Amino acid sequence: MIRPLVAVIALAVGATVVIAQQNPIEARKNLMKGNSAQARIGAAMAKGEAPFDLAKAKQVFQVYQETAAKFGDLFPANSKSGGETSAAPKVWEDMAGFKAQLAKFGADAKAAEAAVKDLDSFKAQFGDVAKNCGGCHRDYRVRRS
Ligand code: HEC
Repeated sequence: MIRPLVAVIALAVGATVVIAQQNPIEARKNLMKGNSAQARIGAAMAKGEAPFDLAKAKQVFQVYQETAAKFGDLFPANSKSGGETSAAPKVWEDMAGFKAQLAKFGADAKAAEAAVKDLDSFKAQFGDVAKNCGGCHRDYRVRRS
């Protein structure tokens, strides 16, 4: 019974890799959509609009870490335009700086995941990690009108 399961997982992982290679713009936008979905869940808890849930709080930071790990590979030279991308030319002009920001985002999310234990610690960590979003967008993303 194990073998078919492994095969299915291998297929699923393979398909994701193929999608990322064929359409990196779509893949990176989807990762960022995942970020903002988690940010909304986090903001609702931080504002007291949703009850605090430690597992959900940690998941916010886990998804951020996954994004940070995968996002940097989705900027091949042939993906500077098209697909309604809002990535700024600066991503390619300063790839090292861009990847450094991404690495910091991942490291901050990892530290936050370890540090969160209750609503108060979540609010502090959530606010700090969120500074990475706007910080990177300011430099590496253009506003589409
Ligand atoms: C290291 C840089 C970086 C960080 C950190 C970052 N982003 Fe982004 N984000 C980008 C870039 C680049 C794009 C443009 C992607 C594209 O259109 O190709 C983007 C696009 C987006 C989009 C638009 C997606 C779409 O459908 O067009 C959303 C929403 C978003 N980011 C949310 C977030 C949130 C929320 C965070 C923090 C939790 C975050 N981002 C952190 C670089 C970053």
